[in-house]
Amino acid sequence: MHRGLEQSLPHSLLDDPQLGKQVALNLKRNRAQDATEAMEAAVAAYRFEDCQHSAWNPEQYALLWGTALWHESSPSQRRLLNQLYWVAYYSQIMSAEIATIFLNQVSAAGLYAVEDFRPICDSLDLETRQERAHIHAFKTIGEDVEHRLFGRRIFTYPMRHPMTETMVFADTNGLRTWWKGIQLRAFTAMAGNPFLGSQYLLIRGLRTLNGKIVQHKLSQYYEHHPDQANAPIPAAISWYHFSDESFHFHTSRLVGVEVPRVLPKPTAFERWVVNQGVAGCQRDHYHFSSAVNGIFWYDPALYRPIYQVLRSPAFGLDHGGAMQMLHRSFCEDSEGVQAAAQTHREAVASYRLFVDSISWLSAGNREMRHMAGNNTHRYLRTNRQAYARFKGQAAALERTHNLLQTARA
Ligand SMILES: [Fe+2]
Ligand SMILES: [Fe+2]
Repeated sequence: MHRGLEQSLPHSLLDDPQLGKQVALNLKRNRAQDATEAMEAAVAAYRFEDCQHSAWNPEQYALLWGTALWHESSPSQRRLLNQLYWVAYYSQIMSAEIATIFLNQVSAAGLYAVEDFRPICDSLDLETRQERAHIHAFKTIGEDVEHRLFGRRIFTYPMRHPMTETMVFADTNGLRTWWKGIQLRAFTAMAGNPFLGSQYLLIRGLRTLNGKIVQHKLSQYYEHHPDQANAPIPAAISWYHFSDESFHFHTSRLVGVEVPRVLPKPTAFERWVVNQGVAGCQRDHYHFSSAVNGIFWYDPALYRPIYQVLRSPAFGLDHGGAMQMLHRSFCEDSEGVQAAAQTHREAVASYRLFVDSISWLSAGNREMRHMAGNNTHRYLRTNRQAYARFKGQAAALERTHNLLQTARA
């Protein structure tokens, strides 16, 4: 902006030259290391036959790792649980990224109202384009695996609207989903507000922080693979994805935590809106999942899909055997339950650190009180109660399963 001329706001990104430089550098590096093309090439070269005999993630990143199912699985079944973790994990990431694409644009629209914010908007544009490539990769491979192994969807879903409930397997009902949609629409109606635009990135940073930790571990499998040229393509995709996402996370931190310094102080209403957003994140991340350690899914919502996996030829359990295995894996304490609870505790600690300096958050939000209220005792109690209800519907579940099998035969 030209200091000698009248401006709509007294603020500019250049009021903080160091911050301006950090934003420009993050954009420059993301452009230079953009993994889009490598990822697109990897998806194009992907063939299930080439990678079906290897693991795609480090060993403990397998569906229901450390539970009764995992302990009693054969080596080939464990490999399958490892591959299904990839499918399930990224089907959640994909859902969050569909919403991100939309909200990046809303946020950029607000921030562009401030002088010299173009580098931030350009960063968000680049990230949006990268997310589309990420979604394409996860969707192509996830759907291919499910089609081959089950002939139906288990964790994937058809392309969805950005206002859909982002948690794929949530503790929700029609009313709650409707209310979340209203809240999201209300947020987007505030497009054009620079402070809220920056705070969307604070919430994005918070919501992706645990993902950053888990995805770093997933990316290590390819990074340390002894023969990268022949490593399974899904593992390479985890690595490319983490490379892009580390820039996205840096953008979230710069814009959500640092940029407010150069913006006018938030009003009481703006502070209220941000607090609502962080409280929503705490609610969404309250649960933890032993099925997919690292995702905050509500495990009772997974009883049905896991039942389908157990009844599939790869596991070949009958109805009674599948029901028993569900109970033993989800309702009994195990290494897997403990590991998922540990991931949740680490998430709470890292979220607290991330928002530590944000003075406009309430104490309950800064300390993540709601999210920190979950523990293995509550988790197991919730799962057992839900299992009792699930068992009540088991006859209908078995009938549907048999009907589908007959239709396919
Ligand atoms: Fe992504
Ligand atoms: Fe991202």
